Amino acid sequence: MERPVLELDGKVLPLPPRDLLFMNETWESFPKNGAGLLALGTRVLQLRGRPVIDIGCGFGRIAYALAAKGYRGNYWGADVLAPQINWLQSNLSPVLPNYQFHHFDALNDRYNVSGKLETEDFRIDRRYASPDAIFVLSVFTHMYEADVIAYLKEIVSVMDEKSVIYATFFLSNGESRRLEALEQSSYPMKCVLNDHCSYFNADDPLHAISFDEIWLREVLAELGLYTAAAFYGTWAGRKSVLSFQDSLFLMKA
Ligand SMILES: C[S@@+](CC[C@H](N)C(=O)[O-])C[C@H]1O[C@@H](n2cnc3c(N)ncnc32)[C@H](O)[C@@H]1O
Repeated sequence: MERPVLELDGKVLPLPPRDLLFMNETWESFPKNGAGLLALGTRVLQLRGRPVIDIGCGFGRIAYALAAKGYRGNYWGADVLAPQINWLQSNLSPVLPNYQFHHFDALNDRYNVSGKLETEDFRIDRRYASPDAIFVLSVFTHMYEADVIAYLKEIVSVMDEKSVIYATFFLSNGESRRLEALEQSSYPMKCVLNDHCSYFNADDPLHAISFDEIWLREVLAELGLYTAAAFYGTWAGRKSVLSFQDSLFLMKA
């Protein structure tokens, strides 16, 4: 199949080559799935034209969804995947110059095993301070707690009282544990890392990692964040919900 393009406002947006897509996404599926994730986000957060930050932006699923929705403010996406970031910066940014992509070479046992940098050294470009939104979608579900906390600290440092973090997690709580015992969970978190962190795949802890919800909420409170809204996903076996992962909307307390 010839690679399709998206046409927006008379501009032609090339889509990433197939070999840069992952998460089982295709050229047909990812614009729809990105739009769905963004639609869930905009139930809570408002895009008023201030910057948007997309941490762990991957191959640009949310960037394309934002562009398709008409967001023309300044967007900054960061990821550890050099091929995806280089492609987006070389091919999408020339068409949408206010969409910029940044490679950060942090170690991640699943996504960047040869990474040289520490997550504590991650810095958000200050030109994108006071953002409307910080997307961290399906990223903290593939990171150890120390890395999650390092990223949240850096995110908090650029937020103001209107900025909203839209982040997804696998949250362990009474309901997820109850459903897991009933074998309803897509990701039974059977491998225990410590008293607040478990994971699904014994051979690949960062395939899907869960944090105890009470523990996480305490961490968030220590970082000066409160949960403005939460939507639980279907991963643990819940029915009739809006997404697969659990979504938290976090603001400065
Ligand atoms: C499941 S993908 C989600 C991608 C994107 N957020 C989306 O929803 O389309 C997880 C992403 O997190 C990125 N990632 C993992 N560790 C990271 C880190 N320390 N800093 C930035 N990105 C990271 C991976 O490279 C990958 O692109």
